Amino acid sequence: MAKTQITLALNGRQVEALVEPRTLLIHFLREQMLLTGAHIGCETSHCGACTVDMDGKSVKSCTVFAVQAEGAQIATVEGLAAPDGTLHALQEGFAEMHGLQCGFCTPGMLMRAQRLLQENPDPSEAEIRMGISGNLCRCTGYQNIVKAIRYAADKMNAAQKEAAE
Ligand code: FES
Ligand code: FES
Repeated sequence: MAKTQITLALNGRQVEALVEPRTLLIHFLREQMLLTGAHIGCETSHCGACTVDMDGKSVKSCTVFAVQAEGAQIATVEGLAAPDGTLHALQEGFAEMHGLQCGFCTPGMLMRAQRLLQENPDPSEAEIRMGISGNLCRCTGYQNIVKAIRYAADKMNAAQKEAAE
């Protein structure tokens, strides 16, 4: 099948690649870019395990064709920690508050949560639950995921307040 060239920014790095028109973004990320953090749970837009950030929005990458990412800014869980390896507040929160068990949902949860906190830096419990309602977890019962996101919100807000003083 004829391939199409795409150019995109992936975790801040400019990337060029040839993709088949039918290639899904999740397959492009995992198989061509070898970024296997985003998981494939259902491939039918139900579970959210494949969630990545595309141009400032959470997308389920099993419902996006790679060619649709032409010119886009894509962020995956691999880009969440700082370049020196310092964990993002959300990663720290998930570890501290036991926000994962098997971890299958976690990359998608983290990417959804980071977008949620960008949009609403001080979410209530209800807003967090609504914000992650497209991401399914079969292990945790969500309680500790909510605590982990709240942990990150508090840490990020405290850091921002300190920086402003
Ligand atoms: S794999 Fe994309 S939503 Fe489940
Ligand atoms: S930790 Fe297992 S699916 Fe969420």
